[in-house]
Amino acid sequence: MLKRFETVYGIDLGTSNTVIYQRGKGIVLNEPSVVAMHQGSGQLLAVGAEAQAMIGRAPAHVEITYPLRNGVIANFEMTSTMLQQFIRKVQGRKSLLRGSQVYISVPCGITNVQKRAVEETVVHKGARKAVAVEEPLAAALGAGLPIEEPAGYLVLDIGGGTCQVAVLSLGGIVASHTVPRAGMSIDRDIMDYVKRQYNLEIGERTAEHVKMTIGTASATAAAKTLDIRGRDVVEGLPRSIRLTSGEIYTVVEDFLSTVVDAIRATLERCPPELAGDVVENGIMLCGGGALLEGLDERIRAETGVPVHTAEQPLACTALGTGMMMTGKESRRSDIWSAAPNNLEKPDDEEAVGSHK
Ligand SMILES: Nc1ncnc2c1ncn2[C@@H]1O[C@H](COP(=O)(O)OP(=O)(O)O)[C@@H](O)[C@H]1O
Ligand SMILES: [Mg+2]
Repeated sequence: MLKRFETVYGIDLGTSNTVIYQRGKGIVLNEPSVVAMHQGSGQLLAVGAEAQAMIGRAPAHVEITYPLRNGVIANFEMTSTMLQQFIRKVQGRKSLLRGSQVYISVPCGITNVQKRAVEETVVHKGARKAVAVEEPLAAALGAGLPIEEPAGYLVLDIGGGTCQVAVLSLGGIVASHTVPRAGMSIDRDIMDYVKRQYNLEIGERTAEHVKMTIGTASATAAAKTLDIRGRDVVEGLPRSIRLTSGEIYTVVEDFLSTVVDAIRATLERCPPELAGDVVENGIMLCGGGALLEGLDERIRAETGVPVHTAEQPLACTALGTGMMMTGKESRRSDIWSAAPNNLEKPDDEEAVGSHK
């Protein structure tokens, strides 16, 4: 039961970003899931956007990690420290989580033992109740799908570490498929391409910037260019090059075919009635990768199924996690009245973190 004045949080613990929703307030935190530590002493130096800004720029004694790197919790202790810091940021000086309820979505690849450990960590910090929820269900709810109906819906969540395809019906997952490639692997493919083609080494953050500004999944997109700087592999000195969107289009091809194969494989494994529903209802795209230009159109062309993009691809999991905790009738109005305001301000660092 939900107590009237109890603080309730919905947390999306993603491989790239952690998003926290607070009932009545909307999205209260959106930060990269990154931790910076002193290598020798293990002392915590920074988390979130502050730690991410150090990537590629830190001295040798500073260790910067994504504790959830490959769609699983790679470093549990660091994940728990990071979560604690984020909650402290949201709570201010108030005692951590005391008496609150926390619904937390965790990457699909984690084990039941890890799932329980996440819940226990949260309870240990004072929460009255903690529930780990399956990410595709939360994402679908946050994207506005009526998942409790006896009809099939397909969700494609393209995050940082993994892509997850799931067919949902009657509030549960009927078939799912996880691909260990997503936003971060596109970044690595861009780094490899630039090295091969131009003998130039670039950092992860530059590669991500390239993907976000001129990346496209569409062959007919308007041509764009971007000048970037890196280090010449042979000479060892900084050098600039100009990349075109056409080049990035060829780089993302391989990733796209993996995603389309995963959609096909998932549809093949689900009962024919549900597959029929999906063809009618379409595919719901969410996660940050859904923002790649032309992706929706491309997936529609390759699968023949209509494709919709969630209104808030980066926030829908946290919103959905929040929706899991209230009664069926009240949850939509509760969330949508609070959240969009917070998220629609592209310049607002607090609300949108480093995505813009
Ligand atoms: N405009 C964009 N175009 C392409 N990719 C994007 C864009 N914005 C964010 N991303 C990518 O989305 C990924 C993060 O998505 P997110 O759903 O937060 O992941 P996770 O759930 O794993 O934390 C990152 O790899 C990021 O580069
Ligand atoms: Mg996610």
